[in-house]
Amino acid sequence: MLYRLAFLAAALAQTLDALGQDTSTSARCLALQQTLQLENTTVLDVAYIPAPTNVSTPGSCQSTAPVTSAPLCRVQFVINTTSTSAVHAEAWLPDTWFGRFLATGNGGLGGCIDYTAVDYGASLHFATFGTDNGHDGMSGLPFLNHPEVINDFAFRAIHVEAVIGKQLIEAYYGVPAAKSYYLGCSTGGRQGTQAALKFPQDFDGIVAGAPAADFNHLMGWSGMLSHFVGATAPPDAPVPDTSPKFIPAALYPMISAEILRQCDALDGLVDGIISEPDDCDFNPQALLCPENKSDNCLTAVQVQTLKNIFSPIIGEDGKVIYPRYSPGAEGDPAAPNFILGGTFFPFTADWERYVIHNVTKLDFTNFGLADIALLDKVNAGGISTFDGHMSAFRDRGGKFLTYHGRRDPLISSTNSKRVYELISKTLEMPSLDDFYRLFLIPGMGHCSGGLGPTAFGQGTAPGLNFVNASSHNILLALVDWVENDVAPATIIGSGANDTERTFCRFPMQSVYNGTTFVCVE
Ligand SMILES: *[C@@H]1O[C@H](CO)[C@@H](O)[C@H](O)[C@H]1NC(C)=O
Ligand SMILES: *[C@@H]1O[C@H](CO)[C@@H](O)[C@H](O)[C@H]1NC(C)=O
Ligand SMILES: *[C@@H]1O[C@H](CO)[C@@H](O)[C@H](O)[C@H]1NC(C)=O
Ligand SMILES: *[C@@H]1O[C@H](CO)[C@@H](O)[C@H](O)[C@H]1NC(C)=O
Ligand SMILES: *[C@@H]1O[C@H](CO)[C@@H](O)[C@H](O)[C@H]1NC(C)=O
Ligand SMILES: *[C@@H]1O[C@H](CO)[C@@H](O)[C@H](O)[C@H]1NC(C)=O
Ligand SMILES: *[C@@H]1O[C@H](CO)[C@@H](O)[C@H](O)[C@H]1NC(C)=O
Ligand SMILES: *[C@@H]1O[C@H](CO)[C@@H](O)[C@H](O)[C@H]1NC(C)=O
Repeated sequence: MLYRLAFLAAALAQTLDALGQDTSTSARCLALQQTLQLENTTVLDVAYIPAPTNVSTPGSCQSTAPVTSAPLCRVQFVINTTSTSAVHAEAWLPDTWFGRFLATGNGGLGGCIDYTAVDYGASLHFATFGTDNGHDGMSGLPFLNHPEVINDFAFRAIHVEAVIGKQLIEAYYGVPAAKSYYLGCSTGGRQGTQAALKFPQDFDGIVAGAPAADFNHLMGWSGMLSHFVGATAPPDAPVPDTSPKFIPAALYPMISAEILRQCDALDGLVDGIISEPDDCDFNPQALLCPENKSDNCLTAVQVQTLKNIFSPIIGEDGKVIYPRYSPGAEGDPAAPNFILGGTFFPFTADWERYVIHNVTKLDFTNFGLADIALLDKVNAGGISTFDGHMSAFRDRGGKFLTYHGRRDPLISSTNSKRVYELISKTLEMPSLDDFYRLFLIPGMGHCSGGLGPTAFGQGTAPGLNFVNASSHNILLALVDWVENDVAPATIIGSGANDTERTFCRFPMQSVYNGTTFVCVE
């Protein structure tokens, strides 16, 4: 309650004070340019944004970003993290503030403030922050021979976002944030996981979607997928793929149709969605071209390609290095056109070139298990993020919500089960329900979209028709858990035409009961 009073005091003080100084919200905002004095931090620009507008953005990521949540105070600043690295950041500080701090994460190897997420947080009255994760743009080139830039990316950018963000909030609103939250997906999901592991005091609650956890093995798996489809050309110098192993995009609809034929009914409803891809024992042999037929079918080599894609990567010791590609996820457009496309997967290519081998040119022809071993050995910036020791976060009362689309074409959702099991085993807690909940989202692609109702307030795509209720909104569900001790049993997704679907928390499964999908043990 205290923080709501502080907000009222701030909003009502739109008059001149006894000394004739302008104490309006816009004047208090603009004054930050001179008054803000935070460690290692330089204020670059301050603007008061009174109404919805498009604002320009720094760096090479986007040229404009919409603000739909006005009025707010926008502060652009840079935090020096070492003498050779810096994190550029922004604060969007809404006039109507509910006393909460929200840090947002990044995507890919970026490098880009997630303005969609920042605006989303501000629209829900969080003082919301975003950073460039220590470098500008989506390329990994800034990592080359810059270990401190790698450290920012691997763990430090979110930490300084939390430390400086909290100080900035206190400087602006006059009171500290009552609670601190984090929201991110993909790389952002890894950053949230890393925050809970390395800086357990930074956040009271974390939403970490589709985490790029076990990062070294994820890079290795993505590289192996390129290897399986015979795509060895560097992403920035593409050559037409001529490998017999390659499967052209035009063949994927046929492959998806066969996968659905074999597995769509497993969850009880034939609707184009495989709710539990780990139950799908897809046999690609059915697609082999019969004698004298060559169109709309696969060669024996291509059948083997599919077998490789849909098998886990196993190390020489027989242990799983990374789970398999989820059957059904190949139907997402990012599968044939990106991760299973005709050039070596760009994120792995950049990490291999600029971080592991420290060169600008590298031959990806023989990418294999030895490369994965080297990724592990270098573990640049301690980026692995595959560690079950979350007791410090649990013991400080932290709450962790994670979700993963079961049709995710870029990061296997099975890995999120694997992370759950690692934490469970490490902490000797058969159920993590007390502080950590994983929601698997049937039909959803990478972080959002896909098939069926997959909008639940994750803030990752503009215009998601989020519902302002904790039952339907994972960020508000987190707030309810942290502030009212009400943990979400389910999350309800919304979609077109007022459709909804209930998402189950792991290890419960989503099964059709003849009327609707229900969660069963
Ligand atoms: C940050 O680093 C830059 C470049 O090295 C330097 O000019 C600036 O003074 C530093 N700012 C702070 C606040 O330390
Ligand atoms: C922002 O720019 C887009 C594209 O130019 C335009 O459609 C939209 O109306 C603008 N929004 C505002 C609030 O000005
Ligand atoms: C400021 O930077 C120095 C290193 O340059 C670091 O040791 C210190 O922790 C930083 N302070 C904050 C608040 O990040
Ligand atoms: C969401 O609902 C709460 C009341 O439950 C209200 O205070 C808040 O303004 C609403 N937020 C938005 C963005 O509509
Ligand atoms: C395939 O084509 C060859 C050559 O035309 C022919 O001899 C053979 O009978 C055909 N096989 C089938 C199964 O049609
Ligand atoms: C590349 O640099 C990293 C440090 O950033 C180092 O760990 C790695 O061994 C270097 N690789 C080679 C091949 O020298
Ligand atoms: C929504 O309903 C309209 C009208 O029935 C239909 O044309 C459209 O395809 C539906 N959208 C989805 C995503 O189901
Ligand atoms: C399926 O579950 C829903 C929600 O629990 C319930 O209302 C409905 O009666 C169930 N249908 C059947 C056929 O069991």
